[in-house]
Amino acid sequence: MSAAAATGPVVDAEYVAEIGRARRDLRALIASKSCAPIMLRLAWHDAGTYDKNTITGGPTIDFVPGRRDSSVAIEEGRLPDAKQGASHLREVFYRMGLTDKDIVALSGGHTLGKARPDRSGFDGAWTKDPLKFDNSYFIELLKGDSNGLLKLPTDKVLVEDADFRRFVELYAKDEDAFFRDYAESHKKLSELGFTPS
Ligand code: HEM
Repeated sequence: MSAAAATGPVVDAEYVAEIGRARRDLRALIASKSCAPIMLRLAWHDAGTYDKNTITGGPTIDFVPGRRDSSVAIEEGRLPDAKQGASHLREVFYRMGLTDKDIVALSGGHTLGKARPDRSGFDGAWTKDPLKFDNSYFIELLKGDSNGLLKLPTDKVLVEDADFRRFVELYAKDEDAFFRDYAESHKKLSELGFTPS
């Protein structure tokens, strides 16, 4: 992801002040522990493991910093329940102000990773290469249950519901369209509730 390139990051004064405070705290820590050399080595080791050929791939997503942390926790149960259907997905995503297209594009995030029985009760990956960001989630979804890959009930509804399905079909045949829409929806998602001052 890259920061909003054309205009620069849009953040409010409080955010800038917080960054300034964090920077001062770090400087004080580095001075008190005389740990500048190890910090430099840490930065180098963090960056030095990078391999330009083995990143997950996928679209570049513009990112605007500045969403506020909250000091209070929200009530449990707002995230989608994988065992439910289309109306539940719509209820949850429409609450965020997102659309059917956003629901399908963002579900394509399951191109990465896998489910584990000890965490969710579900088991396995959605795609054959769960470390690669591509449109294979949609291709596998259209193949149905036979291929041994994971399909949550909330994944399956994307092919059962006609309004969702047209996006699944589009993304399965046009990876560029998926990357474009995913980047747009992911940006919307990551900026929910953020109003630049
Ligand atoms: C994993 C449900 C949307 C990204 C999972 C798991 C479940 C789940 C049950 C398995 C958790 C585990 O066993 O560890 C859902 C439901 C969604 C949804 C019901 C509603 C549409 C999303 C979205 C994204 C996303 C919008 C990102 C854009 C991921 C990723 C993993 C994952 C990357 C794998 C994590 C790992 O490998 O540890 N999701 N998810 N999911 N989800 Fe979703």
